[in-house]
Amino acid sequence: MSIEPPTLTEPVKLTIRPEAGVLAGSNERYEKRLRELAGVYRDEAAFEALTVRRGDEVAYWVESNTTQRDAGGLITGLSVLGPGRVGEEYFMTRGHLHVRAECGETYLGVRGTGVMLLDSLDGRSHAIEISPGEAVYVPGGWVHRSVNVGDDLLVTLFCYPADAGQDYELIRRAGGMSQLVVASPTGWTTRPNPDHPGYGSADGPRAAS
Ligand SMILES: [Fe+2]
Repeated sequence: MSIEPPTLTEPVKLTIRPEAGVLAGSNERYEKRLRELAGVYRDEAAFEALTVRRGDEVAYWVESNTTQRDAGGLITGLSVLGPGRVGEEYFMTRGHLHVRAECGETYLGVRGTGVMLLDSLDGRSHAIEISPGEAVYVPGGWVHRSVNVGDDLLVTLFCYPADAGQDYELIRRAGGMSQLVVASPTGWTTRPNPDHPGYGSADGPRAAS
């Protein structure tokens, strides 16, 4: 009896260029413009004012390498998020829960100062600062987004299972994540998001009370 050999893909070398926000060796890229982030920030008037002036600007981009798409493969990428605020909230990514919620993800800080904001579906929350040389491991089951709390680009290298998928709607349906990352006299801080009643059950969001 013979054993079928696995289909081999070739190894990949990736080079981080933090000054340009480039991941050489990547084979995918997407950009998210400021005006595409409608509904992400609580201060709608501030968002409107910002998009009138800067709506076409790229808020963040991702360069990634997907070589092995099947289960067992990993996607490695660079996330680049500009600095700024909408009202009192710092610029952030939309955030997501992995469709295969058990899948974890590692983020390594490369440039700038950020916060990894994490929510569990049962109401726990963490805000973990990430600077160059620091990594945050996001275990399966945590909703996550990056927030740029500095004045520079926030550049992070991430790695996650290729078949994890991303659910972006969960946060939108829940009125945002449970915590806001806002400016304070001593830097950034978090405070509860009053629009977030919880993530609800598998059947849909909990009604706001
Ligand atoms: Fe993720």
